[in-house]
Amino acid sequence: MKMALSSTLSRLNLIPRPWLPYTVTTLRALKLKPHKPQLLRPMWAPLTLSSFSVSAQIHRPQDDNLIVLGIETSCDDTAAAVVKSSGEILSQVVSSQADLLVRYGGVAPKMAEEAHSQVIDQVVQEALNQANVSETDLSAVAVTIGPGLSLCLRVGVQKARKTAGSFNLPIIGVHHMEAHALVARLMERELQFPFMALLISGGHNLLILAQGLGQYIQLGTSIDDAIGEAYDKTAKWLGLDMRRSGGPAIEKLAREGDAESIKFSIPMKQHKDCNFSYAGLKTQVRLAIESRNINAEIPISCASSQDRRTRADIAASFQRVAVLHLEERCERAIEWALKIEPSIKHLVVSGGVASNQYVRARLDQVVKKNSLQLVCPPPSLCTDNGVMVAWTGIEHFRMGRFDPPPPAVESEDFVYDLRPRWPLGEEYAEGRSEARSLRKARIHPSLTSIIQASLQQQH
Ligand code: KG4
Ligand code: ZN
Repeated sequence: MKMALSSTLSRLNLIPRPWLPYTVTTLRALKLKPHKPQLLRPMWAPLTLSSFSVSAQIHRPQDDNLIVLGIETSCDDTAAAVVKSSGEILSQVVSSQADLLVRYGGVAPKMAEEAHSQVIDQVVQEALNQANVSETDLSAVAVTIGPGLSLCLRVGVQKARKTAGSFNLPIIGVHHMEAHALVARLMERELQFPFMALLISGGHNLLILAQGLGQYIQLGTSIDDAIGEAYDKTAKWLGLDMRRSGGPAIEKLAREGDAESIKFSIPMKQHKDCNFSYAGLKTQVRLAIESRNINAEIPISCASSQDRRTRADIAASFQRVAVLHLEERCERAIEWALKIEPSIKHLVVSGGVASNQYVRARLDQVVKKNSLQLVCPPPSLCTDNGVMVAWTGIEHFRMGRFDPPPPAVESEDFVYDLRPRWPLGEEYAEGRSEARSLRKARIHPSLTSIIQASLQQQH
């Protein structure tokens, strides 16, 4: 099966001016002479970061001229992008597995892995071509190492290591959810730490307080399904066109419906915390669909006008309550976050579901009521993409956090550092909830705990 690149976005010169006022040097000067492998200490491998002190050896004036390739394969999109540390996006390529989603109604890991493997070389090459650079122009390669599906992560990591190994480039392991949050700093130069972020995607619902690069307090998370999963299942059960995933289909149909017509109950009302749950709402929606005899086998395009109206009412009512749950959690999270960091001015909303206009409008009201500002990346940077990975790589690279170039030929028994279950931050102690039912087994230490350990070891 050959997969086409379903969308390619090229040369979005989103930030024309350099990010930092450093003098511009030629691309050749970026060949990272200061970053000799033997000077480096691995950032992402073990927890023992004893002599990790690379940052002092980095020549800061050149930091503004980095060119980083970002690779993302944690879920169902194969994405790559080339980004400069000035903030200029040189290329962005995404190959989506929408046809597989339609066929299987969700992400099947083995199928997804195969689809990634088939297009990864082509996607990366296209990103380099569009950027008009070759591997020798790159300063480093950034790649998502978690959280996500192991089989899928492996495809991206393998490609990243192969590229970095062949061209003697440092490599930066990126946390997928951190990337969703930090891409906002690429778009909005005013966005300084500390800030809050609501990250809403197919696999995660996270409310965090970002105190610094790699330093996050987790205010809330999903105890079962994430909001994107609820959108996708609702779309599937309503017989909607899933080719662009379920979210956009629900958003569109909901505009025709009456959002007050079905009284779904808001999840977790009794829990005065910032966690999320969408499994119960999903069940409510399924029951509503069943009781109205909607046949998902009949695509919405073929439904009678009465049937279409009923489906639209369900879509609208679902969306209203799904987003009300977000609103309530954000209200409380803002309260908590301002207690911890009174200087917070921004709430970043990112992840696939953040491309939804209704979600943005409702959260904008919540944020304004609390005298904060909403920062939402454009939709192409909210859904999974390589730009966010490249950018997060750049942010860490500037701090000296990266691995040395891998060997040109990897040994066959090399064990990849993949982190399918990898929390971003440490849980906010005062917000700890009885409602948490998360499986704790085989969870990797959080990104924040790793960074803190490395900082302590430096002092
Ligand atoms: O961040 P993302 O691209 O991938 C994951 O990391 O999961 O998010 C994908 C999710 C899917 O569940 C998709 O249905 C949802 O984002 N999504 C939307 C919209 N666009 C994408 N949900 C609601 N409204 C949208 N416009
Ligand atoms: Zn994502």
